[in-house]
Amino acid sequence: MFDINNFDGIIYGADYNPEQWPREIWREDVRLMNEAGVNLVSLGIFSWAHLEPQPGTYIFDWLDEVMDLLHEHGIGVNLATATASPPPWLSLKYPDSKPVTADGVRLEVGGRQLYCPSHKAFRTHVRELTEQLARRYQDHPALKLWHVNNEYGCHVDQCFCSLCAEEFRSWLRDKYGTLDTLNFAWGTAFWSQRYGDWAEIQPPRRAPTYANPTQQLDWRRFSSDNLLTLYRLEADVLRNMTPHIPVTTNFLGFLPGLDYFKWAQEEDVVSLDAYPDPGGSRPHFEAGMSYDMMRSLRGGQRWILMEQATSAVNWRERNSLKRPGLMRLLNHQALAHGASGLMFFQWRASRAGAEKYHSGMVQHVGPERSRVWQEVKALGQELKTLAELTQARLPARVAIMFDWNNWWALEIDSKPAALKLMPLVQKWYAALKQLGQNVDFVHPEGDLSAYDVVALPNQYLLSHPAAQNVRRFVASGGTLVSGFFSGIVDEHEHVQLGGYPALLGDVLGLWVEEWVVLQPHEKNQIQLLNSGTTYDVFNWAEVIHLTGAEMLATFQQDFIAGQPAVTSHHFGAGKAYYLAGDFPEEAVIDLLAQVLLHADVPMCRLPERLNVTLSELGETCVLHLLNVHPTQPLQIRLPDGGLCFENGTYLPQVMTLAPYGIALVRYHRSVRMDELQVQDEVSAHAPSP
Ligand code: GLA
Ligand code: ZN
Repeated sequence: MFDINNFDGIIYGADYNPEQWPREIWREDVRLMNEAGVNLVSLGIFSWAHLEPQPGTYIFDWLDEVMDLLHEHGIGVNLATATASPPPWLSLKYPDSKPVTADGVRLEVGGRQLYCPSHKAFRTHVRELTEQLARRYQDHPALKLWHVNNEYGCHVDQCFCSLCAEEFRSWLRDKYGTLDTLNFAWGTAFWSQRYGDWAEIQPPRRAPTYANPTQQLDWRRFSSDNLLTLYRLEADVLRNMTPHIPVTTNFLGFLPGLDYFKWAQEEDVVSLDAYPDPGGSRPHFEAGMSYDMMRSLRGGQRWILMEQATSAVNWRERNSLKRPGLMRLLNHQALAHGASGLMFFQWRASRAGAEKYHSGMVQHVGPERSRVWQEVKALGQELKTLAELTQARLPARVAIMFDWNNWWALEIDSKPAALKLMPLVQKWYAALKQLGQNVDFVHPEGDLSAYDVVALPNQYLLSHPAAQNVRRFVASGGTLVSGFFSGIVDEHEHVQLGGYPALLGDVLGLWVEEWVVLQPHEKNQIQLLNSGTTYDVFNWAEVIHLTGAEMLATFQQDFIAGQPAVTSHHFGAGKAYYLAGDFPEEAVIDLLAQVLLHADVPMCRLPERLNVTLSELGETCVLHLLNVHPTQPLQIRLPDGGLCFENGTYLPQVMTLAPYGIALVRYHRSVRMDELQVQDEVSAHAPSP
């Protein structure tokens, strides 16, 4: 396994685009990089047009100079293969290399990422450029890491052209073998869709009405795989020519188009671009979810935050800046959630082009007079004192099940309601964070044995092997919490008959007869039997029949008043809970707290603005506490025995965490989350330790 710790401390740096600047600036750049503590830059991401200005004519002298200059200053290079955006000549020379939308529109020159992944000549040019770069720099001492392409699928995650149609057909042949198998899987008996020849099969282009759902689902799978083939083409060249250099490509967290569980297996280290909205109320949940996914993709391996903004981005309707202290705080969060590298887009804010109003480490005002630069420099210094954190691991007792196949299937049209997966996952994630948990994401067919609790906010599609996996997990003592509309269809998106969710019915001890979809102006209510607490229910409720499950809450209104809304069921040595509606976050917190309690998972109730992780570092434990609020302090009662991470002195047990404040506390014993107490308002009478 690639050892991310070979970098000797925490990676700190940015995308570096020297081709946008005259040579004189380059010397100034490296001087400033040294001043900021930069030790790695991503170079050449959008340099194709400069490296190959005409077909087959390569110009490397400027890149040689930059590579040498960086090396002389002790800065390593994460060298891009420069294939992220083909130069205009390429797209014009091969008009059919330009991708096509579902409506048949061919996209045009002038933006970026303009390529069809299936185009043969495009692929050849990609391979040649990658080979050229690998040959030229394979022994360059600055080369530390390969950055393949850039954010695959960010702008174009599906191309509907005839070349892709051909690739789709051969992907389907590999998958199904015979047309009969395909016809069955796609349910083509419906609407006279039966295929008699492979050549009749098309991508799900704009059609008169709903395209066949399984065709749509397979198309999403194929589109992710087709881009993966393109990635693999480059990765193979690099692995061949420079086996000593690790390979990555930067992910986008919860990007709809790519099945990152599959992709991550073909990298040496996972890297992520994360742009949580600083104008949003909970940027740390938005970021934290992606961070936890990145850590989960390769079994807990630490990862690199490849891009983030020092302050504002340029691509939202309103681009909030990061107020003083927020940039540092969010970098601490990445470290706490398993990052070993913290990098920005980009080193120097551009003068021209579409991203000139995107912040950089060096802002338009220049370094000396810049607040952002002061923070960038201070963070670079601080990171040197935190290098040990790159050895930490985050044990999680709770995992959220996540699968891109499910995401695709759920959001295909013609459902009981137009459900969106991410808001639900976000809600459950936020709830678990507010209960003090480290959260992993786990693939439905992944190893569940490390977890006490596995949560399925909305696992609509569950393959048969995945259902077996879940069943085994519960039977052997695990706790399952399933949200509504889970376990409904198999991998072909075929409904499992006999009462929903047939794939999990025996585990949950119930069957669902009907779904009660609520209109925007409608709501129901649930009441918890143990506490009497009531919560509103929106969007979704159900008609449930119990076959062994116990009722924990009932619906309060309409024809389902008094009927089960939340249940639990013993199955083998474990337990399975069911939440039969779309409940507000407070209800999810309340219910998950009860689940954790019964599963004997230590927890505490945290205010939403406090981000906490608990990690293991050698023989010690580390609590990383972040107050994600610009003005409100927090009062915290720490587990006893807490030492200041940096200097080992004892910390007072009761402490005030300032606005945007950070506390890193080390323990020479194992710590449980239920030892942590937080008071939301700073009270005048602090409890004595
Ligand atoms: C992405 C890209 C970068 C840049 C940033 C701007 O992450 O990889 O090239 O466009 O977005 O936020
Ligand atoms: Zn195409």
